[in-house]
Amino acid sequence: KKRIGLLTSGGDSSGMNAAVRSIVRVAISRGCEAYAIYEGYEGLVQGGDMIKKFSWSDVRGYLSIGGTLIRTARCQSFREHKGRLEAAYNLIKNGIDALIVCGGDGTLTGADTLRSEWSDLTKELIQTGKLTAEEVVPHANLTIVGIVCSIDNDMAKTDITIGAVTSLHRICEAVDSISSTAFSHSRAFVIEVMGRHCGWLALMAAISTGADYVFIPERPPEANKWKKEMLESLERPIKCDDIKKLLLDAKIDTRVTTLGHIQRGGRPCVYDRNLGVEAVEAVLRATPDTPSPMISVRENKIMSEPLMEAVELTHQVTEAIAEKNFRRAMELRDPEFAQ
Ligand code: F6P
Repeated sequence: KKRIGLLTSGGDSSGMNAAVRSIVRVAISRGCEAYAIYEGYEGLVQGGDMIKKFSWSDVRGYLSIGGTLIRTARCQSFREHKGRLEAAYNLIKNGIDALIVCGGDGTLTGADTLRSEWSDLTKELIQTGKLTAEEVVPHANLTIVGIVCSIDNDMAKTDITIGAVTSLHRICEAVDSISSTAFSHSRAFVIEVMGRHCGWLALMAAISTGADYVFIPERPPEANKWKKEMLESLERPIKCDDIKKLLLDAKIDTRVTTLGHIQRGGRPCVYDRNLGVEAVEAVLRATPDTPSPMISVRENKIMSEPLMEAVELTHQVTEAIAEKNFRRAMELRDPEFAQ
């Protein structure tokens, strides 16, 4: 029986539990065993009871719960060789030869690194006497499949990431509440949302709530222009407090609200509940020669893309944004933008 390990890692996102549930249940119904690895790579490095075989009923009730019940971590030790050696040891000890990772680009990169080092790690485990050749031989290959879970919707080669739509709903609910008090007091509100280097949450929330202005990393303000422009048209400032000060100077009563982690928690919306199934199919399709796949959504179809191509493209877009090269970032995201 194929043993599939699964973990959630990095920042949590609503829909991770639904993904875990479908991975476990599809794995079982396709004749495989499913092993949940707690706290992401941390659990993989620690082993022991951080790795637990899951049955059908272990994931009962998972669909509608936010966050990740198998927990997550931003794991430092997995970034080091020693940590990845421990991870390889624990995978083999538990007989796991396929790993489905749910997380953002850091999580997916980590998984692919493990796969690319797999043969060296297994050799080292034999050389150092931690495992015998007989124990290692059945695990000559490690299959990796990525599912992109992130509220930021910042991954290339997929239209949407699990958790982004739920987060957008949460932001809009919060902004709707703020709007009513803003109107009552004739106040301006400056609202800071998450998204790291990607303006998707901010842009979509702004459109959906009728914000007067939106500031996104893809379109940074020009340093010496924004204040003047802001006063003229309330356009393109940098930090929430800068905007607040400017508005106060212009005699507009203003408050700042940083929405924080409420954007990331809570029940997943319907859209974020149904993308896990394809990951198990991708495990069953994988061969030692094919690149690790990442489950993607393109034009409403669930597909799979080479994981590392998606990660590399994501990094290029982020770099272009950091260099304030808006046009280049857009072209990388969508080649048709160039025409
Ligand atoms: O990547 C998801 C995200 O929520 C980003 O939008 C945000 O910048 C970051 O994680 C916050 O991370 P933490 O919860 O570790 O503070």
